[in-house]
Amino acid sequence: MLVLVGLVLCLVSADALTAFPPKFQVGKLNGDMVVKCNTSVQHVSWTQNGEPEPMAEMVAEGRTLTILGLDLPATGNYSCWAGPVLLDTTYVVVSSTGKEGMNVSCQAESYRGSFHCSWMGPRSAVFRARLTRSDGSLGQWVPAAGRRGRFSASLADPSFCPFAEELRPMELQLEGLSDTSYLNFSFHFFIRDIVRPDPPQELTVQRRGEQLHLTWAPPASWPLPKSYFALLYRLQYELHNSTQVDRYVEGMEELRLQERVRRVRISCQDPYANPAWSPWSTWQDVDAARQSQLRAQ
Ligand SMILES: *[C@@H]1O[C@H](CO)[C@@H](O)[C@H](O)[C@H]1NC(C)=O
Ligand SMILES: *[C@@H]1O[C@H](CO)[C@@H](O)[C@H](O)[C@H]1NC(C)=O
Ligand SMILES: *[C@@H]1O[C@H](CO)[C@@H](O)[C@H](O)[C@H]1NC(C)=O
Ligand SMILES: *[C@@H]1O[C@H](CO)[C@@H](O)[C@H](O)[C@H]1NC(C)=O
Ligand SMILES: *[C@@H]1O[C@H](CO)[C@@H](O)[C@H](O)[C@H]1NC(C)=O
Repeated sequence: MLVLVGLVLCLVSADALTAFPPKFQVGKLNGDMVVKCNTSVQHVSWTQNGEPEPMAEMVAEGRTLTILGLDLPATGNYSCWAGPVLLDTTYVVVSSTGKEGMNVSCQAESYRGSFHCSWMGPRSAVFRARLTRSDGSLGQWVPAAGRRGRFSASLADPSFCPFAEELRPMELQLEGLSDTSYLNFSFHFFIRDIVRPDPPQELTVQRRGEQLHLTWAPPASWPLPKSYFALLYRLQYELHNSTQVDRYVEGMEELRLQERVRRVRISCQDPYANPAWSPWSTWQDVDAARQSQLRAQ
């Protein structure tokens, strides 16, 4: 029991990572690993997670340290020193097994080549993401934000052309480091399959005699021209007897209604691609609109 508790404390006491370390090395469990100190100094000393005196299963020779039979307690922060001077630092982890199928979900608000992804991972992990762009070039690593095991990153492909047919999928690579292990996976998708527009904006309701006149505008993030980037609108309104009615409108940004409507809201979708509807706009109260109009008269 005591040994177990001691082992757990040992593992926990290794500094939790708060950002991706600049230099890391991935080894196989029980394999040997050589860590090099990037310096011109001939003889260096080593620390692991701040502790001097490398353990028996490590061999220091000149600028290299060989870890024999890499196990979990042997992972962590290896620093090499010339006396009190820090020369170099390498973070050592083992490769993780059987973690291929990570549940990543991505969304784009339009066809501008930018999107947002989120996924679950170990709470103690740090992640970063990188995009292979549509022109084949490799993007920069982007650090992921993490909170309670849910991670997210926003990425953009500056070479993405909204007007061209998407022939190659985006390739997203995710890399994660927990205290002891390394996760690596990539996945592919087309922007057209992850588009979910923002809600339409500026929904206004005007009463003209017995009619209601509704107008709105496409989401600000939606690309132009309208003739090319069409939107299908869905208006939902509630009658005074609480019945809800849906009306679909394409190619227009207005609608006239005869009914006695209490309130109305709107969402939209790309009719030619992914069937995801935008979030709803907030409800617009029709009686409030009428009252403010009466007051103005
Ligand atoms: C590793 O240890 C060195 C020396 O103590 C320190 O400067 C560095 O920030 C540590 N790196 C990480 C990722 O903890
Ligand atoms: C070694 O250090 C030099 C100078 O700081 C740096 O330019 C080089 O990229 C480093 N090499 C490695 C493998 O980290
Ligand atoms: C993947 O994540 C989504 C939402 O984040 C969830 O609805 C779905 O059930 C998850 N699928 C698996 C296989 O975990
Ligand atoms: C991560 O995965 C990519 C592609 O799957 C591969 O090219 C790369 O070498 C892997 N990185 C490491 C450190 O294993
Ligand atoms: C609510 O009113 C509409 C139109 O006046 C009518 O068609 C509908 O049947 C009514 N629904 C209920 C539940 O009374």
